[in-house]
Amino acid sequence: MKKGFIKIVAAALAGLFLLSGCDILPKGTDGPHEVPLTIKADFTQKEKKGNWVKNGNCKVTLKDGKAVITDRKESNSGIAINCPDYRGNTVNATAAVSSANDSVRLTLKYDIYGNVSYVTIAAGDTNESSDATISGNIEIPANAQNAMVYIEGSDVRDITVSSFELSIVGEFNDLTLTPVEELADPSKTASLSAAYADLFKFGVASPASVMTNKNDKFRELLKSQFNSVTPENELKPENVLDAAKTLADPAKYNESPAIHFDAAKPILDFCKKNNIPMRGHTLIWYSQTPSWFFYENYDVNGKLASRELMLKRMENYIDSVMNWCEKNYPGLIYAWDVVNEAAADDGGMRDCYWKQVIGDDYVERAFEFARKHAPSGVQLFYNDYNEYQASKQEDILAMLKPIAAAGNIDGMGMQSHISAGLDPAGYVKAMKRYADELGVVIHITELDVTAPKSLNPMYDQGVYMKKLFEAIVQADKDGVPIECVTVWGLTDDMSWKSATKPLLFYGNISPKPAYEGVMCAINGGEVAKPADYQEPKSDLSPFFEDFEDKKFIGGPRYSSVQKIVEGGYESSYCLENSEGYAEYDGYSIDVTQYAGHTIHISFAIKSKAAVCKCTADIDGTWPNIVEVQTGSDEWVLGEGDYQIEAGTTSLTIYFESSDMSPFYLDNVKIEAVD
Ligand code: XIL
Repeated sequence: MKKGFIKIVAAALAGLFLLSGCDILPKGTDGPHEVPLTIKADFTQKEKKGNWVKNGNCKVTLKDGKAVITDRKESNSGIAINCPDYRGNTVNATAAVSSANDSVRLTLKYDIYGNVSYVTIAAGDTNESSDATISGNIEIPANAQNAMVYIEGSDVRDITVSSFELSIVGEFNDLTLTPVEELADPSKTASLSAAYADLFKFGVASPASVMTNKNDKFRELLKSQFNSVTPENELKPENVLDAAKTLADPAKYNESPAIHFDAAKPILDFCKKNNIPMRGHTLIWYSQTPSWFFYENYDVNGKLASRELMLKRMENYIDSVMNWCEKNYPGLIYAWDVVNEAAADDGGMRDCYWKQVIGDDYVERAFEFARKHAPSGVQLFYNDYNEYQASKQEDILAMLKPIAAAGNIDGMGMQSHISAGLDPAGYVKAMKRYADELGVVIHITELDVTAPKSLNPMYDQGVYMKKLFEAIVQADKDGVPIECVTVWGLTDDMSWKSATKPLLFYGNISPKPAYEGVMCAINGGEVAKPADYQEPKSDLSPFFEDFEDKKFIGGPRYSSVQKIVEGGYESSYCLENSEGYAEYDGYSIDVTQYAGHTIHISFAIKSKAAVCKCTADIDGTWPNIVEVQTGSDEWVLGEGDYQIEAGTTSLTIYFESSDMSPFYLDNVKIEAVD
């Protein structure tokens, strides 16, 4: 029952809702009505009638059954499909687009109790001459209202959309008449910041909507739980740069763009009033910074600015932003993320406008300017993700050492977007290294922890949080100068990664086992097992797949595609893995059931790639189990052993090829050997 229409037959119920004044019907629903399981934009029809709406500041022209989006003023200006009735469902969003922007992405936006959340669904590289298909699945929280999916570009250049549609994945979960869950009472939950007061500040990232929300409860939660606030988006260049003013008179603002704090003011006012110190996030970043900032005369159709001009703009921006805040809110912001995410994922420095226009020394210059203009007492931070990974650690240290030697940096920001598989020992070791080798303090700036895909994800996440915070507390006691730990959002449903349920509070602001784990790490005790706790099964029977039944148990590691194809090793069929977005995007198999045992893995593999590997999937380290020389495009056999730690609640192994070529897999056998 995938495609088609669901008829809501609930007349009696509807009468009830109507009698009660409709108050309990979620916003965005207008009583019983038919819900299409696919919403497809029709670009031969006008806005709304054609199932699409304009989003933000741009012009949409319909031509040859396509939507051509021009005059895009912001990177998120474009078109959207509204899907308020899809709350509580997993939804596939697919669009075919061409664009001169480097990439285009699909973003889910929704209201959650009056707060706004943005979640990336999928992104893809684009060009002007052919369509790229961008597609991904996303879970929309049950209590989300006014959900919509929109198309945005990495830049403000035109986007042409050939097709755009949303569809329900699996069975439709009809919540159209289900009232939104009530919010919990925040005064019932003991304070994290009070519990950790002797060690470090306990902070949170918040959108301004919390301050303007008609619901007091989010502010109550924030004030009672946290004693440091980072605006989630409001102090980023895209919100601080005053596009209207600057672009209206580029000559006047040539060296110093106009800035404004309209987006951030509600947060600054709230924190000032409540005496909550703030982290400023972020001054110099490759993302969420409009491209016009980097061009001569701020004209994206012209030439990139010269190094000299860009250095002036950089200095003036850093100076004016920090000092506007200091003048208007003296002493409120105690730390600034001066540069965010300058290290590349695959080694060295990230390619971006800043690097292209100024050169490799842009990070050094930014910290020089920041030191020169910083109000006294304000700490200057470098901030990055995957900062605990071995090779990125080396790159970041190499980049920051001259800056530390010049005395221009005070802190390392460990973003810490991690999963519950990361080894806390390696993580705190990385912090200690940054502190020791750079002579700086440490802030954990954006902590969120993807819940494991286990039998008891919330409980297991809680147990992991206890382990993680015990390691953090111990490191702090051992002298690693951890001065603040900030979680990246108030509730799971408000998270930029909401589907991974990575935070400490449920959407209705009641505390999760993850919260309990953090509390147990400082107060002692154990995370309580939930009433619906399921005993992990330890099934030691061997696993064997020869794909002759045309089925497979595993799945894509990220977005790769698996198919059963002919031409197996010694038999008819095998599994093909293709189309991943990176080499490591392969075929993944859950081996949690063998926790506490050594497993022996054997398989046949074939690929044009030089090497194929089988690896255990642990966040931060990826222990290789076996590597085979392929390349000949002939079947090759591989085998190896791996010891799975006792107590592991979620572990997968995955197969990958050394380049993006497809690989073929057969006769996969996994057995416990001890
Ligand atoms: C994220 C916000 O949470 C989202 O609302 C926004 O759409 C994108 O940015 N690293 C950072 C943060 O430094 O600024 C990012 O925040 C998450 C990754």
